[in-house]
Amino acid sequence: MNTLQLEEHQITAAANFLKNGQVLGLPTETVYGLAANGLSEEAVSGIFKAKGRPEDNPLILHVASASWIPRYCSHVPDSAWKLAEHFFPGPLTLILERNEIVPDIVTAGLSTVGIRCPDHPVARAVIEQCGFPLAAPSGNTSGKPSPTSLQSMLEDMNGKIPAIIQGGSCLVGVESTIIDVRTTPKLLRAGGISVEELETVLGQPIEMDPSLHGVVKATPLAPGMKYRHYAPDAPVTVVVGKDSAHFIAKHVVSGDGVICFQEYETLFSQCLIKVLGKEDDFLSHSKNIFSALRFFNTTSVPRIWAQCPKEEGLGLAVSNRLRKAAGFQVIDSQEELP
Ligand code: TXA
Ligand code: MG
Repeated sequence: MNTLQLEEHQITAAANFLKNGQVLGLPTETVYGLAANGLSEEAVSGIFKAKGRPEDNPLILHVASASWIPRYCSHVPDSAWKLAEHFFPGPLTLILERNEIVPDIVTAGLSTVGIRCPDHPVARAVIEQCGFPLAAPSGNTSGKPSPTSLQSMLEDMNGKIPAIIQGGSCLVGVESTIIDVRTTPKLLRAGGISVEELETVLGQPIEMDPSLHGVVKATPLAPGMKYRHYAPDAPVTVVVGKDSAHFIAKHVVSGDGVICFQEYETLFSQCLIKVLGKEDDFLSHSKNIFSALRFFNTTSVPRIWAQCPKEEGLGLAVSNRLRKAAGFQVIDSQEELP
């Protein structure tokens, strides 16, 4: 199969693929997604096939506006409306009770569905023209880092999907925040909207799902959390604490890969380096994290060392992606290696 590359303005051509039950590579503000008609079981099965995604991992429905929520959800609490009002369109996914219109394949049989309204002009125009919601996971092969440019998505999907539409580099760079708002608000995935912002709007603290810290129950609330994820081919070691850069400099060997903050770049001259941005520039970290992880797959580095942003604001999402890429192998720079 030849993957057709559409220009940003070819919205009608893009929507036609979806109306014909095919899958389409679609840019969003977070990451590129692999979209299909979210109301068609057959169309959605094409997503699972192209990604190699386990069938028990549900998909998010992407809508054109908050007014579409009641079409797919049986009960929408006030807190959900409040969050949608503030953050739609934007990098936030609400977990709500689904209704019977949503096919089982989308929700992996769960009684809930994730709803998100993406803040990208191409994604919104395509959804509006389709008139139906788009089921869309991130456009990577299952387990790999998410793609934040058309080129990265083609690395995984070229020849596996009929078309992809251009939308530039993703402005956020990490996936949406997922919050379960059916009862007491609970964070299932850190992402492009920070916990602090959500708590301010809700006026109450948000519970954190233990899977965010690597503790995964047999049945995690966001099933995707139980899979190894975002991982480049080489093993990743995350180093935290205030001496992280010097700790890494002491332990790297020539030819290792390093993901670091700009301030410490010069410590690693004998290594292959990807810079996340200045240490306090969380938005740069989030824009750059996935391309950094993907970059090392084009090299033959034997291992990757990574500095990690503070777990506040967008830093929580980036730290979580890095820790998952490392299989939660994290060293505190204040403690010596065993
Ligand atoms: O930013 C994003 O959310 C991107 C773009 C393309 O919109 N999409 C994305 O989808 O990240 P995906 O499939 O790669 O990750 C969705 C996560 C998975 O961990 C899945 O298990 C969880 O959301 N999820 C989906 N539906 C759920 C549900 N009903 N209950 C709990 N978790 C759910
Ligand atoms: Mg994903």
